[in-house]
Amino acid sequence: MAKINPIAKEIPFYLTKQISEGAAAEPGAVNLSRGQAGFLPCQKIYDEAKRIISREDKTIFRYEKSAGAKDLRKSIASWYGRMFDLEVNPASIAVTVGGTGAISLTLQTFTKFGDQIVIPDPSYPFYTLSAAHSLDGRDITRLPLGFNKVSANNLRPLIKNNMQMLILTSPHNPTGFIYDKETLTGLVDLAEEKDFFIMYDENHFPEIYDKKKHLPVHLFDRKRKFSIMLGSLARLGLQGERIGWAVLPESPDITSTFIAQSPFTCTRAQRLARFVLDNYENLEFGREFQIYEEKRNWLIPRLNELEGFTCPMPEGTSYAFPNIRRFVEAHKKKLMEKVRLESKKRNISEEEIELSMRYNSILVYKYMLYHAGVGCVPGIAYGPNSDDYIRLTFSADKQELEEGFSRLKERLFAL
Ligand SMILES: Cc1ncc(COP(=O)(O)O)c(C=O)c1O
Repeated sequence: MAKINPIAKEIPFYLTKQISEGAAAEPGAVNLSRGQAGFLPCQKIYDEAKRIISREDKTIFRYEKSAGAKDLRKSIASWYGRMFDLEVNPASIAVTVGGTGAISLTLQTFTKFGDQIVIPDPSYPFYTLSAAHSLDGRDITRLPLGFNKVSANNLRPLIKNNMQMLILTSPHNPTGFIYDKETLTGLVDLAEEKDFFIMYDENHFPEIYDKKKHLPVHLFDRKRKFSIMLGSLARLGLQGERIGWAVLPESPDITSTFIAQSPFTCTRAQRLARFVLDNYENLEFGREFQIYEEKRNWLIPRLNELEGFTCPMPEGTSYAFPNIRRFVEAHKKKLMEKVRLESKKRNISEEEIELSMRYNSILVYKYMLYHAGVGCVPGIAYGPNSDDYIRLTFSADKQELEEGFSRLKERLFAL
């Protein structure tokens, strides 16, 4: 009998989506595992979305150009100019099916069988999913980071002869750190010296605090040869529109080669994306990220008050990524007993219970969900060296955040 690809079956058990579903299945749980934006787009965006669909426009339901609408590619270039004083050639931009579409295509186009890809640990799980599971024979090296950043110094010793790509994320999901000029310059110099690409995922670009600035890597890759920048509208409350993009290295016909390997994105969504980027400064995003910053400032000191939790202040994103190692060490036996008991009540399979016993972060995730009614993401979802962490989102409503924290404070230690 024909069978599905066995690798597809093995696909990581703890994807963030499954975690959200776990929290949704728990009645009354406060779900702080979500990766969705914490706000809805402003009224002007709804008005424009309605206006866009009209019978007068004969092309709205037609195919767009595969690399994306010409006007949208110009709008993306103009947005980089206004935001970052960065000149981008619209001919190097390809519009993709969300940020994830841009990630898959970058890995497919710029790496081949046998190539080394360095993925920091922790990192957004889709990178490994795409590089190690969807593509054949890539040589994945994880770079254990904890709360550190990738730098030329910690990367250099890992580079092998087959090195082809480094994956960088700024602001970084899940730790929230952002890359500065010096680090980026060092990494671009190393890419030039050792001849590899940097895939720079700037999906979380607007979620930056303390008046810090996001720096697109092309500011430092002046030759535009070694880096690919990836963006998306997901953080702007428009995640369902599935609009992402890649700014590719300068090379003839690069966008057609890149996009030929994939289905292209929806015409109507591209029109709305153009409106959003052209009017970016007037669509109330600044206010929304100000609210995120206030919630971050409220949550992080409180997390650090929990005995055994350590959480540095994230510079960006909407995530807290506390280290919970000391908490587990202090209570491991009790946590295991409680999780086993609560799992049995819920008819959780032995296999899944075994995972909770094996991984500290899954143990804490389950304990928090069953005992405190708070959903989070176990650190192990972000890489094998990140089992001492959990991820909580602070883009949730302030009320939800307050309720979530008060439950943690009251119930976490009521063992
Ligand atoms: C770092 C990073 N890149 C890409 C994505 C995916 O973006 P999209 O929803 O546009 O596919 C996410 C989503 O959470 C992300 O955190």
